[in-house]
Amino acid sequence: MLYSEKVMDHFRNPRNVGVLPDADGVGQVGNAKCGDIMKIYLKIQDDTVTDVKFETFGCGSAIASSSMATEMIKGQPVSQVMQLTNKAVTEALGGLPAHKIHCSVLAEEAVKSALKDYYDRNHIPYDPKLFPAESCEVHA
Ligand code: FES
Repeated sequence: MLYSEKVMDHFRNPRNVGVLPDADGVGQVGNAKCGDIMKIYLKIQDDTVTDVKFETFGCGSAIASSSMATEMIKGQPVSQVMQLTNKAVTEALGGLPAHKIHCSVLAEEAVKSALKDYYDRNHIPYDPKLFPAESCEVHA
């Protein structure tokens, strides 16, 4: 089968869909090639992601990746969330077809972009190298 049970599950019943109007960090990224867009909202208290929501206008793998990513980071300290990789998201989903790996990259970048927004809003210094260019095209 092309897609794992986990991918199908998160695609059919995505977790944490929606918006957080009082988010502490918002990140939006898009893939220039496929045109898909992902937006992540983070609520951060005491250096911990206490709530997270996402809106994804994209393919099933992008929806499953964002759903899984939100589950992986909810309740985690910001330092831990910074370590999130598309590889970890893909593994948690039980794998993705090779031509769908870029969809998981979108999830990693959306989360990082939301963290960057949080740092910027709170004037928290960071190493810009930690935040790649906001287009997953470079990784495709
Ligand atoms: Fe574009 Fe999946 S095909 S994110």
